[in-house]
Amino acid sequence: MSNASFIVVANRLPVDSVVDDEGNRTWRRSPGGLVTALEPVLQANSGTWIGWAGTAGEAPDAFESDGVTLMPVPLSEQEVLRYYEGFSNASLWPLYHDAVEPRVFRRSWWKSYYEVNERFADICAREAAPGAVVWVQDYQLQLVPGMLRERRPDLRIGFFLHIPFPPVELFMQLPHRMEILKGLLGADLVGFQRPLAAQNFLALTRHLLGYRPRGHYVNVDDRLVRADAFPISIDTAHNEEVAGTERVRQRAKEIRAELGEPETIILGVDRLDYTKGIEQRLKAFRELLEDGRLQVPNAVMVQVATPSRERVDQYMKLRERVERQVGRINGEYGQVGLPAVHYLHQSFDRYELAALYQAADVMAVTPLRDGMNLVAKEYVASRVDNRGALVLSEFAGAAGDLRQAFLVNPHDLTDLKDGFVTAANAPLDDKMKRMRAMRRYLRKHDVSRWARSFLTALGVPERSAAYNPGS
Ligand code: ADP
Ligand code: F6P
Repeated sequence: MSNASFIVVANRLPVDSVVDDEGNRTWRRSPGGLVTALEPVLQANSGTWIGWAGTAGEAPDAFESDGVTLMPVPLSEQEVLRYYEGFSNASLWPLYHDAVEPRVFRRSWWKSYYEVNERFADICAREAAPGAVVWVQDYQLQLVPGMLRERRPDLRIGFFLHIPFPPVELFMQLPHRMEILKGLLGADLVGFQRPLAAQNFLALTRHLLGYRPRGHYVNVDDRLVRADAFPISIDTAHNEEVAGTERVRQRAKEIRAELGEPETIILGVDRLDYTKGIEQRLKAFRELLEDGRLQVPNAVMVQVATPSRERVDQYMKLRERVERQVGRINGEYGQVGLPAVHYLHQSFDRYELAALYQAADVMAVTPLRDGMNLVAKEYVASRVDNRGALVLSEFAGAAGDLRQAFLVNPHDLTDLKDGFVTAANAPLDDKMKRMRAMRRYLRKHDVSRWARSFLTALGVPERSAAYNPGS
């Protein structure tokens, strides 16, 4: 047993290992909202982070980074295929996102999911100090709380789901649904992004196990398990600080100039994922050009689509469809040197992202379904000038927090188109009023508050060495 008193267990480490042809290893920031949210929390806590280093094969040794101990977990090529790309991202991911894309089940994937969850639980059980706090993250590791409780009943175990939790009738489709539910119930606290997800979970304990939840609690053997909502957020102060630098201001101006000083820049920044509604957004933009309600070069769209899960079939097909769509729009509506859609299938650093946010008149965050969506929050925090307009899907968890956004239903193309036009044409004072209100909200509800409220609910004493977020 080791002496880690605060441990985060997540599928990925905050950095991915990249090995070149000569066998030299470098580290690159991992994609996605989970890392964005947890990195500042762990840094403030000097904790231990257990996770996969992003490539198949032997895991590198544990190492320190920014005061956090990073402990890589090995995954074989077959486990990447079955546990990560298979059960996690082709079965659970679509099912938990309202099956907006058909889910795939294969029996061999489950075995691998179980074995990898067991490996994470074993490493954590070995590393945790007596009575340590362990915070397990996301859908890839839903069996870990139960496995950990069997191995180490002395631990305080929290679980947080970063994605939506489906209604009972969808969850019931899942093979091994009972094991998954029992795995989650191994935690003392199960956290969700929105209250409806917690209610779905509690309803499921009644439906599948015949439990009788009371309020937010359910009695499991001799323990009380709490299920509740803890909407995740961003490091607002850090985003504001980056956005306020001269470098970002200058770069935002440059971007506008490079795009030909259009009246309206519509920006999308997403992982290239079918839940993000990129195809629907492009279709709406194309129809607006067709209708003449927007015109190139007065209006342009910039779509940043971070490469994601590139070997999973649905993601490969999505990429083909999106790139064909971009080509079609540019073919029909672009002009020499003036494309209608600027498509960037790349990752960027925080400064470039902040500059893009600051250059954008309309930020399009229109997922078909999303647990939270931190991009929406980053855009707001980056608008230190209180300008810009956020068009936000009602189906993103963020819509519960950013109520002054221009809310749209991305499944309804007419509503989506109207949302873009309304946001683009809204009077400046209206846009500024909305932005100010949302920025005020995010200053108060930042990621440290999220971590604090979760850990307090988990019963971690405020003065514990394992708990000092944001101070
Ligand atoms: P998800 O967790 O599904 O990827 P979120 O919107 O919650 O979605 O989080 C995405 C995170 O990834 C944000 O912090 C965002 O800034 C970051 N991100 C998105 N696109 C890029 C990109 N092209 N380069 C770098 N970071 C990106
Ligand atoms: O937020 C959901 C999530 O799956 C996180 O768990 C993950 O960090 C992020 O999206 C990116 O996905 P992946 O780790 O599969 O690249």
